[in-house]
Amino acid sequence: MKPLKIAICGLGTVGAGTFHLLRKNRDLVNRRAGCNLEISCVGARRDNPDCDLEGIRVERDVMAVVDSDVDVVVELMGGTTTARELVLAAMAKGKHVVTANKALIAEHGDELMAVARLNKVHLAFEAAVAGGIPIISALRDGLAANNIEWLAGIINGTGNFILTEMRDKGRAFADVLAEAQSLGYAEADPTFDIEGIDAAHKLAILASLVFNTPLSIEAIYIEGITGLQTVDITHAEQFGYRIKHLAVARRRGTGVELRVHPTLIPESALIAEVDGVMNAIAVQGDAVGPTLFYGAGAGAGPTASAVVADIIAIARDNSVGSGSASATLVDDALQAAQAVLPPEDMETARYLRISALDRPGVLSAVAQIMSNHGISIEAIIQKEPHPGENHVPLIMLTNSTRERTLLSALREIEALSSVEGPVVHIRVEHLDG
Ligand SMILES: NC(=O)c1ccc[n+]([C@@H]2O[C@H](COP(=O)([O-])OP(=O)(O)OC[C@H]3O[C@@H](n4cnc5c(N)ncnc54)[C@H](OP(=O)(O)O)[C@@H]3O)[C@@H](O)[C@H]2O)c1
Repeated sequence: MKPLKIAICGLGTVGAGTFHLLRKNRDLVNRRAGCNLEISCVGARRDNPDCDLEGIRVERDVMAVVDSDVDVVVELMGGTTTARELVLAAMAKGKHVVTANKALIAEHGDELMAVARLNKVHLAFEAAVAGGIPIISALRDGLAANNIEWLAGIINGTGNFILTEMRDKGRAFADVLAEAQSLGYAEADPTFDIEGIDAAHKLAILASLVFNTPLSIEAIYIEGITGLQTVDITHAEQFGYRIKHLAVARRRGTGVELRVHPTLIPESALIAEVDGVMNAIAVQGDAVGPTLFYGAGAGAGPTASAVVADIIAIARDNSVGSGSASATLVDDALQAAQAVLPPEDMETARYLRISALDRPGVLSAVAQIMSNHGISIEAIIQKEPHPGENHVPLIMLTNSTRERTLLSALREIEALSSVEGPVVHIRVEHLDG
């Protein structure tokens, strides 16, 4: 059997991890691939002292890789400019592509997939969502018989680490973020992690696979964790909930809700137990019921595990002589494209924290406004005022309510003279069908 020749572009964390995994597990990987997987080229601006490149062609200009005699180009550089050019050029030359680059797929995936189809090559990106968790192959293959009703994921390890520390140690957001950066979990510029952009990129990919929504984050409602206060994590626990930064795709009658935001989840839900930098995705299928996929969402080993699995899948497909479809795609023609619902039409239950004057009648005024809007209060806690303060936190959970209805009720509540400042409101997901 001819070897499958591979070019690794980018020898950073994931590139070096992939390089080492292909060497370390060479025999079993080759057996499973049905041929030898040979790293014959590397695209790197400089050497990585951890990778012995003897006998391997090295291109300092990564674009030159596409002219080398390789079957698969593995893009592990990150970014969306050179990476996009490289992937397009490689596919135009008939080379299969594997990438871990969620930003590239979430922003340019539709274009890249069209080119993959045109050139009858594979474009595989298992590593782009939740690192080592094989969620794309689970959705595409393992759950292929199901209508997926919803999926909800903790798919950014940095954000989950921050929320876990805030809950367990009562620490403030900024303090934990600084530690996450010093531990190397968060990037020097952590905006994508804490503002929900990274999770939105991954959600766009999952939703496109499941609901055939466009590969773009434009229509996704995105709210980060920067505004979250430890006091709300504590109050949520008193109701029996944990707060997680959740990415949700949920089918409704008229379309699909795509949203990323802090979320109260019942502490009895398995996904509420997912702490630290770990990732998990809960998926509800109409035949299988609830499922949960858990594992490391980042790191050299877990991400390389997914990259190499994609290379093996390509090798297997080549060995049976198909090579005619892009590996990780559900064929669009098989699924009706779903509309993404605008935020004002989305529907969730809410946690509310209202700062109210400590005097009779406030609660009934708030309850009256809610009732006028058809919102029911499911649970309520009224705290004693702190010494010397005349405002008390009024904390409640509502039933599932349409966004536009809730927001107009909140505007009326905030206009009450007995209420101080904006009402804190956080979505609630029961994840129960
Ligand atoms: N790290 C993770 O755990 C993880 C998990 C899932 C997905 N990913 C994705 O995997 C990709 C790589 O991430 P990473 O963490 O491995 O990043 P990284 O450690 O920063 O490595 C990126 C490497 O690519 C090289 N590179 C960048 N532009 C290049 C160019 N034009 N030509 C040649 N080499 C170039 C960099 O070289 P220089 O050193 O010369 O700049 C660096 O060695 C990203 O798309 C990321 O989103 C990462």
